[in-house]
Amino acid sequence: MAEVATSQAPSFPMDRACPMRPPAEYASLRSRCPISRITMPDGQQAWLITKYQHARALLVDRRVSSDRTHPAYPLVANADRKLLQNQTYLSRLSLIGMDPPIHTAQRQMVITEFSVRSVQAMRPQIKQIVDKCVDDMLACGGPVDLVQKLSLAVASQVICELLGVPYADREVFQERTKVLNRRTSTLQQGMAAANELYAYLDDLVTAKEAAPGDDLLGRLIVKNRKTGTLDHGAVVGMATLLLQAGHETTTNMISLGTVALLEHPTQLAELRANPKLIPQAVEELLRYLSVSDVGTSRVATEDIEINGETIRAGEGIVVAGMAANWDDEVFAEPERLDIHRSARHHLAFGFGVHQCLGQNLARLELEIVFETLFRQIPDLRLAVPAAELPYKDDAFIYGLYEVPVTWSDRKTS
Ligand code: HEM
Repeated sequence: MAEVATSQAPSFPMDRACPMRPPAEYASLRSRCPISRITMPDGQQAWLITKYQHARALLVDRRVSSDRTHPAYPLVANADRKLLQNQTYLSRLSLIGMDPPIHTAQRQMVITEFSVRSVQAMRPQIKQIVDKCVDDMLACGGPVDLVQKLSLAVASQVICELLGVPYADREVFQERTKVLNRRTSTLQQGMAAANELYAYLDDLVTAKEAAPGDDLLGRLIVKNRKTGTLDHGAVVGMATLLLQAGHETTTNMISLGTVALLEHPTQLAELRANPKLIPQAVEELLRYLSVSDVGTSRVATEDIEINGETIRAGEGIVVAGMAANWDDEVFAEPERLDIHRSARHHLAFGFGVHQCLGQNLARLELEIVFETLFRQIPDLRLAVPAAELPYKDDAFIYGLYEVPVTWSDRKTS
């Protein structure tokens, strides 16, 4: 049995020494003890998976559960165990916290909305949203905060259009999501945010049940009348998950991806010269940045033998997405951002039955944003050094709170 598996279990989550790199312990554990014991913030022990092949194997294993209410489910925030007793908090875990067969039936209700075909049909709408945001940035003149003006604005408008949530109400869900994404939020803050978000979407779904429109939530309600798969609370839960998952992750990928490209000017110049490279560059950015590092935790429902270890039934498992995506047996020199790499097999969207439902949408948004931003503002630059930016070290989904950017004023140059 490997050393860290039995000796002292290090605390998790682990700190990053460099904001754009995983914690140094990931690489050292991967080579010494790729399936190792860790101590979660509440003192419970769990298994940390740091190798790509083990991560993939466990994420497709039917002997793992996503049920957050299981007492051994590894939680990265102390307040969460109590929050999980609250029905409004639980509802936001809709699909993501469910297991088959209920999960399968509910995912089936929305899967076609996120097919390549459905998402590609949104291209003109997304393009229009991105063009408008970049035009607004130019009209303001630098420096501006990229997060507010572009990342959050694009990701929120796109998911609002798709779901049929009024964008005018964005503060309601953006502010509550921010609180719920912070590991340091108190129980009271988490409870208030979950209740307020639920109340907002409860009202919205009730209105749509009376008069369903031609948007995802309207179509879901109509379809559900035929299948009877979801009760009212489950529709509200689905709406809550889609609204949050649909804007928080993409916002962070736009912000971090822009900073990463600005910090690699030669590759950025290549991208600008040859936009056909953008889809591949997006895959590499997803791998390199792995914003959802702690998003794929599980609990074993039966004993699982893996790599000479036995994960016992009822033990928690953290599949660290960034550790898997920086496994040098799969991605040579993982610390090198390389837009020419074929990285599409990364695990940034997870793997198995819970693999990201919105991945086609996220890819399209990222492609359009990077193409438009760097074409329209070729001399975009950070207004402060990258090392001084406020990184989300206290969040479930990694990202940036603010990114001041600037460029030369066309009117005077
Ligand atoms: C770059 C942006 C994104 C990243 C990195 C990302 C990442 C992930 C990951 C890692 C999972 C798997 C969680 C698990 O296995 O427990 C997931 C699931 C999910 N994502 Fe995304 N996501 C992104 C964008 C989106 C968007 C735009 C939507 C749109 C609604 C979305 C909706 C979902 C949903 C509904 C699930 C749960 C699927 C299920 O449990 O069956 N995501 N995402």
